[in-house]
Amino acid sequence: ELGSYSHFMEKEIFEQPNSLMNGMRGRFSDDGSTAVFGGLNLTPQELRQIDRILFLACGTAWHSCLVAEYLIERFARIPVEVEYASEFRYRNSPLDKNTLVIAISQSGETIDTLGALREAKRKGYRTLAINNSVGSTIARESDGGIYQHAGPEIGVASTKAFTSQIMICAMLALYLGRLRDLSYGDGVDIVKALKQVPEQVHAILKQNEKIEAIAKKYARYEDCLFLGRQLMFPIALEGALKLKEISYIHAEGYPAAEMKHGPIALICEECPSVFLATSGEIFQKSLANVQEVKARKGKVICIATAGCDLPEGLVDDIVIVPECHEIVQPILMSIPIQLFSYHVALARGCDVDKPRNLAKSVTVE
Ligand code: M6R
Repeated sequence: ELGSYSHFMEKEIFEQPNSLMNGMRGRFSDDGSTAVFGGLNLTPQELRQIDRILFLACGTAWHSCLVAEYLIERFARIPVEVEYASEFRYRNSPLDKNTLVIAISQSGETIDTLGALREAKRKGYRTLAINNSVGSTIARESDGGIYQHAGPEIGVASTKAFTSQIMICAMLALYLGRLRDLSYGDGVDIVKALKQVPEQVHAILKQNEKIEAIAKKYARYEDCLFLGRQLMFPIALEGALKLKEISYIHAEGYPAAEMKHGPIALICEECPSVFLATSGEIFQKSLANVQEVKARKGKVICIATAGCDLPEGLVDDIVIVPECHEIVQPILMSIPIQLFSYHVALARGCDVDKPRNLAKSVTVE
């Protein structure tokens, strides 16, 4: 089943142009301005009445929820909250009656996500699931949902399921936006941007060898920070989770500006940082954060979109991803962090497909 690949994680990273394409297939309107979903079981009228969305998930899927929060608030202007499923199920939080609850789960069998979904249903909320396993318990028990169609994910470290979840959330933000304030023109721009993603991911994957060389340079460190602002904050969290679960390096993700509230104390020659920098309004602020780290002798690996104007020689290593619409930045920026973690783990001799202490699907509390 592995074909020419050495590990399922590698195979699944390289499958992403296809898995992303499959998630989009047949899901755009004929006029190319919005997304269409078959299984929501909610009419546009009902969806217009939703005045809050609560996302529930665990692990990597929880990071997808954080991306969804930014995207849905920005493009559909609906307030979004994100909770760990394990916390929500026992917290008894008061919810507005027009809240839509969305659970995200690759396997559809994660016990905490299922427990949280059941708790939301018990209280009478409408529930949807974003899920990669057709017929899973979470898919069956929710009122409606969207299948990811990313294909089976075997590697314990989630890769293609994560980018596919973000893709679905971007399409959902587009769909909900077009039911509200998002214009036809803005919708068309987003659809075009989404359709370009598989090719752009393919182009980033061609940098595999370069990323491998960078990873080998940093594989000996025992600590690593991942920093990013706005949409890049959840990707920083995901980068840290990926690195820690397969390489056992202690890694943390932070919003870059939070550095000075504590984590900057960790910065030294022995603690590198991975910066996620995207062009746009927040770039100058991210640059200032990179300079803060460099001033403290911290090594910096920068993953940046092509439009970022980084001063020559500021960072130690750099990976450039294609310039793109903001809505697809989280997908493209995820690819280098997956490859980086994969190669660091291999350089440390770790079993990337079966990391210690972890199961693919967490079906016990
Ligand atoms: O199947 P699920 O998406 O519900 O799984 C949730 C988490 O257990 C999962 O994402 C976990 O964090 C992965 N090992 C991350 O790579």
